[in-house]
Amino acid sequence: MSNKVENCQCCCSEETDQQKLDMIAEVIEKYKNREGSLIQVLHMAQNIYGYLPLKIQRFIAESMNMPLSEVSGVVTFYSFFSTQPRGKHIIRVCLGTACYVRGGKKIIDRLEQILDIEVGGTTKDRLFTFEVARCIGACGLAPAMMIDDVVYKQVNPDKLDSILNKYRN
Ligand code: FES
Repeated sequence: MSNKVENCQCCCSEETDQQKLDMIAEVIEKYKNREGSLIQVLHMAQNIYGYLPLKIQRFIAESMNMPLSEVSGVVTFYSFFSTQPRGKHIIRVCLGTACYVRGGKKIIDRLEQILDIEVGGTTKDRLFTFEVARCIGACGLAPAMMIDDVVYKQVNPDKLDSILNKYRN
């Protein structure tokens, strides 16, 4: 295996499609005979490619000599796999009951304006993906949202722009 695959744990945007496929092929070669290797391969393929579109699922299925339906079944079952391009930062606005009644919907409306995308979308610059969550464990300080692993509590819609600026620089 080349040093490139050994060292690369991120989404290498500078790689060409073919280079990414070559890297995924090397990962498959390394893991394919191990027990339960499909999930590991999918994780690494998502790190390399950024997401798991059908053509990558098909490539993995053929390379691992298994039905495409089996690969697709795993991809769609686990929420951490994505078949769409995702942003560098994932915004999750809570729409659980406490957050909903304390203004979660206003946060969503304001984010849709600022980011110019709808819930489920990714900004054109691939900086943000915008999703909703059911409860993120901060009900006492609702409304709440997360950006990556950071929880923001008592979010004021007027402060959203300055919160997002921390991730823009
Ligand atoms: S309902 Fe939003 S954090 Fe629990």
